[in-house]
Amino acid sequence: MSQHYDLLIRNASIIDGTRAPRFAADIGVRAGKIAAIGELKGAGAEREIDATGLIAAPGFIDVHTHDDRLLFSDPAMTPKVSQGVTTVIAGNCGISLAHAPAHAAQTPPLDLLDGDGGWFRFPTFAAYREELAARPAALNAACLVGHTTFRVAVMDRLDRPATSAQIARMRELARESMAGGAIGVSTGTAYAPAASAPAEEIIEVCRPLTEFNGLYVTHMRNEDAGVLDSIEETCAIGRALEVPVVISHHKTVGVRNHGRSTETLALIGQKMREQPVCLDCYPYIASSTVLRDDRLAQSTRIIVTWSKPHPEFNGMDLDEVARRLGVSKDAAVAKIKPAGAIYFMLDEQDVQRILSFDETMIGSDGLPHDAVPHPRLWGTFPRVLGHYARDLKLFSLETAVYKMTGLPARKFGLAGRGVLQAGAHADVTLFDLHTIIDAADFQHSTAPAKGIHTVLVNGEPVWAHGKPSGARPGTLLTRAGASPRS
Ligand code: ZN
Ligand code: CU
Repeated sequence: MSQHYDLLIRNASIIDGTRAPRFAADIGVRAGKIAAIGELKGAGAEREIDATGLIAAPGFIDVHTHDDRLLFSDPAMTPKVSQGVTTVIAGNCGISLAHAPAHAAQTPPLDLLDGDGGWFRFPTFAAYREELAARPAALNAACLVGHTTFRVAVMDRLDRPATSAQIARMRELARESMAGGAIGVSTGTAYAPAASAPAEEIIEVCRPLTEFNGLYVTHMRNEDAGVLDSIEETCAIGRALEVPVVISHHKTVGVRNHGRSTETLALIGQKMREQPVCLDCYPYIASSTVLRDDRLAQSTRIIVTWSKPHPEFNGMDLDEVARRLGVSKDAAVAKIKPAGAIYFMLDEQDVQRILSFDETMIGSDGLPHDAVPHPRLWGTFPRVLGHYARDLKLFSLETAVYKMTGLPARKFGLAGRGVLQAGAHADVTLFDLHTIIDAADFQHSTAPAKGIHTVLVNGEPVWAHGKPSGARPGTLLTRAGASPRS
């Protein structure tokens, strides 16, 4: 008797997310899961997709996002599903919607999540989780909660270390989040509101991570001259808490530090032999965050991504803004803040070296609410596949897929994700190896990528025929084995 499936993908070339060489097979999907992979010629299905000439890969996992609010404000998650992404890790760089008080909108970089503050209305992680359950998005999410958010919620002044009473309150926020299904805590000591937090504060706030086996994820204090010290600090925090650490968007910024990824990767490699460490990277030589004057000297070019008082400058080079205002660049920065920017301050060789490092995962760091966002928001994954793997041959396509599927699923503890195997959840991306490429660039920053054919989340198509399907099968993912140790 032949098998019957909800959905049958026929004649695919399968890259399964484990780094194994591709192979030809059919995929049978039933009840949101992969029921079978192999030669399924005799089988029938409610729906069939002919994938002749296409690659079938596990849906991509965007390990570094600021999508906390996009999950609600654009539940189709178009910038992500159009790239083949089926899971996002939200709450990075120390900032999360959960626990942010309404006045957080006045504290950069929290304004990256919501410049008006209307979304800062989740006093607990449970409240955030419940709203996501009530209004699911097209793709899955796993959430970090931010130490900077805790500070803004608990402290009256941010320019000093927290008192022991404040630490105790922040630790309660961390515990509530972990008990409610967050996968870890992120920090952003590179930013003013958390820069005065010493490692001891972070360790004491993050104590619940030990109990829940959560992740410590960090936008490190320094990615400039002090980058090696920052790696040491990050690893020391991980050792003190006995939890894995994730170094976010690893890079060495500023011309003086170009080439230093040889040093940082050597140090990270050494640490990996002693404790669990992992890292992610986006495939561009320009970074992006709020507009800050300390980036002026380090950047060869700056583009304004948004400005609250001067939206007419959105998308314009800072040089041109200064010319139009008839002032210096420093004065222009002061005039147009609060604002965001793109900074050209990385070295292509460093980007390639970090991307090629065996344990590097792919994370977009896309900023979905910027008026003219960095193109990484719409282009990261097809750029790694099409530009770096296919065209530059930096690594095999199997390795590229692994860096965005099997590797992050294992590091983040997302059970049944990141691989195409019988029994796994049916998060599947079909793409055309010959045409896949990012289309977003610094002139057309929100152009959808090319070559993504169909994207399934939990067995349901969320992207097909070049547009979102309208389905909302996403769920909140928790970290496997993250039950309290007790
Ligand atoms: Zn960051
Ligand atoms: Cu970030």
